[in-house]
Amino acid sequence: MRVAAIVPAAGRGERLGPGAPKALRLLGGVPLLVHAVRALALARLVDVVVVAAPAGDEAEVRGILDAYEAPADVRVTTGGATRQESVRRALESLEPEVDVVLVHDAARPLAPSQLVDDVVSAVAQGAEAVVPALPVADTIKRVEGGRVVETLRRDGLYAVQTPQGFTRALLTRAHDAAVIDGFAGTDDASLVERLGNAVVVVPGHPEAAKVTHPADLAAAESALSQRLARREH
Ligand code: C5P
Repeated sequence: MRVAAIVPAAGRGERLGPGAPKALRLLGGVPLLVHAVRALALARLVDVVVVAAPAGDEAEVRGILDAYEAPADVRVTTGGATRQESVRRALESLEPEVDVVLVHDAARPLAPSQLVDDVVSAVAQGAEAVVPALPVADTIKRVEGGRVVETLRRDGLYAVQTPQGFTRALLTRAHDAAVIDGFAGTDDASLVERLGNAVVVVPGHPEAAKVTHPADLAAAESALSQRLARREH
């Protein structure tokens, strides 16, 4: 088994407010992207990491990864106009020997390496597509034009995280079908679901939370301090 981890990192991160692309914002003085790449590279079961950088920023991203001495084999490719396109381009750049592919958002900097290995293990044990997920705590409603039109039953609702793991064959087929059909999904598993293939759920982790808004960055700073304090004891 040869495992590649793709990191879509080509978003502008406008919801975080003005500044550098989201993946290059600092958390504990280190870019979000570097945290995410380290978590993947430190996982036992990941062989190569491919980062999709914003078009035009490839050299800067390469320089940042080198400056922080990212461990393992880390490559940089050019991202696309959407997250899905960034993943597809990185997927196309993988060498033929890769047979398992993870996709992990740079915007989830504190996903534990153990979670990464749990996802790869589930694929190694026969699942073609795997997502980490946590039950939602909030009641989720569908809202249109400022009015609630539906309240979803909370039991059975999960918030899905990354890394998501796939056999390379299935992920490639799912991306190809999405291009042909003009389908745009917010995660990779949704491209697989529409082919009718099973997507297996493994337990997610609170630290794999996504950084989208400024408050998420503050929460991640606090999670990072707690993690560092635990290690010092
Ligand atoms: O915007 P959102 O938080 O959903 O982005 C999820 C991930 O997709 C981020 O890591 C972001 O950098 C990446 N992305 C990308 N290419 C784009 C847009 C987003 O790689 N064109």
